[in-house]
Amino acid sequence: MMISTFKALIPFLTLITACEALSSNAKHVCDELVRGLGPSTVVLPSDPRYANISTENWSQTTWKRPACIAVPSKALQVQQVVKTLVKKNVPFAIRSGGHSPNPLDASIDGTGVLISTGYLNVVTFDPVTKLASLGPGARWKEVYSVLDKHRVTVVGGRVLDVGVGGLLLGGGLSYLTDLYGMACDNIVSYQVVLANGDLVHATERSHRDLFWALKGGANNFGVVTEFKLKTYPIYLVWGSVRVFAATQTQAVLQAVQAYQSQPNKDLYANMVLNVVPTNYTVILTMVYLKPVEKPSAFRFFYHLTPLSEYSSIMPLSTLMSLFPAATLPRWTWWTLSFKPSGTLYTQMSNLLATSPEVKTIQHLTAGTMVGTVQPINQNVALAGRRANSVGGNVLGLEAVNQTWISLNAGWWDQKDDKKVHAAVFVLGRKIQRLVQPWAQIDYIFMNDANADQGVIGSYGRVNVLRLKLVKWAYDPLGAFSRLVKGGQKVPAL
Ligand SMILES: Cc1cc2nc3c(=O)[nH]c(=O)nc-3n(C[C@H](O)[C@H](O)[C@H](O)COP(=O)(O)OP(=O)(O)OC[C@H]3O[C@@H](n4cnc5c(N)ncnc54)[C@H](O)[C@@H]3O)c2cc1C
Ligand SMILES: *[C@@H]1O[C@H](CO)[C@@H](O)[C@H](O)[C@H]1NC(C)=O
Ligand SMILES: *[C@@H]1O[C@H](CO)[C@@H](O)[C@H](O)[C@H]1NC(C)=O
Ligand SMILES: *[C@@H]1O[C@H](CO)[C@@H](O)[C@H](O)[C@H]1NC(C)=O
Ligand SMILES: *[C@@H]1O[C@H](CO)[C@@H](O)[C@H](O)[C@H]1NC(C)=O
Repeated sequence: MMISTFKALIPFLTLITACEALSSNAKHVCDELVRGLGPSTVVLPSDPRYANISTENWSQTTWKRPACIAVPSKALQVQQVVKTLVKKNVPFAIRSGGHSPNPLDASIDGTGVLISTGYLNVVTFDPVTKLASLGPGARWKEVYSVLDKHRVTVVGGRVLDVGVGGLLLGGGLSYLTDLYGMACDNIVSYQVVLANGDLVHATERSHRDLFWALKGGANNFGVVTEFKLKTYPIYLVWGSVRVFAATQTQAVLQAVQAYQSQPNKDLYANMVLNVVPTNYTVILTMVYLKPVEKPSAFRFFYHLTPLSEYSSIMPLSTLMSLFPAATLPRWTWWTLSFKPSGTLYTQMSNLLATSPEVKTIQHLTAGTMVGTVQPINQNVALAGRRANSVGGNVLGLEAVNQTWISLNAGWWDQKDDKKVHAAVFVLGRKIQRLVQPWAQIDYIFMNDANADQGVIGSYGRVNVLRLKLVKWAYDPLGAFSRLVKGGQKVPAL
């Protein structure tokens, strides 16, 4: 009896010892980092800044207690940190704006070190080259406030609080996407710290394979310390936000279908629809990238009567400021891509209105479910391929009109985590069943994907093989797979 109990405990004892060994290894490396970089660049748990950074306020589902947090403000410091962590085999996480709600994407516990790029947040615009240079730790708010002074913009985030780094490395969906492709298609240079500590510039001319791989390749290849993006002279736009009653969901979705399938859709027109069944509303956001009132591309929506409406010609960033950061403390999300049809939209609207999973979430404290409908024009894939000479991006987008739907659930209590995750999972399965097989599109949009969705695999066999080869060339020992556990991973060759 004694012996068998003891035996049963052995795996746990070894596990505990292994964890302790890992934690103490991480602590030693933190001390080494403090000695090398100074206490202002390495935040220990005793530092007053520690709580602030480890509880970065977007989703509490990501709050962890790393052994220490490196807060580099120069690429050289990132090189030192990465070199040390890789040499000592210490796990780490990389964070820019911290807006992924997936628990490990940009967070790590006491067995590892968090690299937070929050101080690598410089944003500049060069009026001669017309390029913008963005630090990964900047928020879109800071980006647009610099660019607005020059009346230009970039293909970037639609919500001001979100970080630059994660959004750009996941592809990036923007109000300019129908027109100019994904955000990553508009990046002309990446400054990257590789696993061996080298700092390289990946462009169309140098490190072309890495340049390609970073266009959707997430944190698999290095820590990006600076992005250079094309800019466009877009400043004043027509924006309209309309809130409809839930009873109008069907009608609004049929208008979305008509909008998406109109011949030669005006690429300056962009929209996103948030269906919020838990709160009995539907929120339509229309953006026209020129200062033109009521453009005809949106004519399908004008006959619908909203509960409330705000429409105006305004700077694009002002429109974005109408969407404040969500106040709910816990979030998760899930996404799917499909070829839209009137029938599918009807079925989805019925599903959201009647499914018990939505009710489950609705009954939790502050429980909210948002189904976000994002129309993507066939031009997005074409613009990506046209954008550069290295063969576009890694995403494997099909040149067809499509919709990227995401389910976003917000709630209050940690004790409800399991219930919400289960509900979102089941609801996702139900949507997938409606869509399959005739309308499904393989591509899964990383920036809206749950950690348990296989994003990299969705890029297609050839792209995955190419990514593995680039990985082999730039991270042969697989440091960014072995040590950086969070995020979507390129499989080993
Ligand atoms: C309110 C809200 C609105 C959103 N709107 C949009 C939108 O309009 N368009 C869109 O495309 N997405 C949008 N998203 C999704 C968003 O792009 C992702 O959440 C993205 O991960 C956020 O980037 P971040 O830097 O804040 O995230 P983080 O959580 O800091 O990082 C996300 C991932 O990227 C990796 N990473 C971050 N920085 C680096 C770096 N410098 N080097 C290497 N790897 C790095 C991290 O390791 C992590 O795996 C939105 C999210 C929220 C919460
Ligand atoms: C914590 O973060 C907030 C928001 O970024 C900042 O205003 C505040 O100064 C920080 N506090 C400390 C102690 O660093
Ligand atoms: C985030 O929220 C927590 C708890 O509400 C608070 O203690 C912390 O200071 C906040 N951090 C920031 C950066 O605002
Ligand atoms: C896709 O959108 C374009 C407009 O950009 C339109 O011309 C085309 O007919 C649409 N295709 C389908 C199948 O709806
Ligand atoms: C929906 O309702 C919940 C519960 O009342 C609330 O906490 C949440 O903020 C609402 N969400 C939206 C998007 O209005």
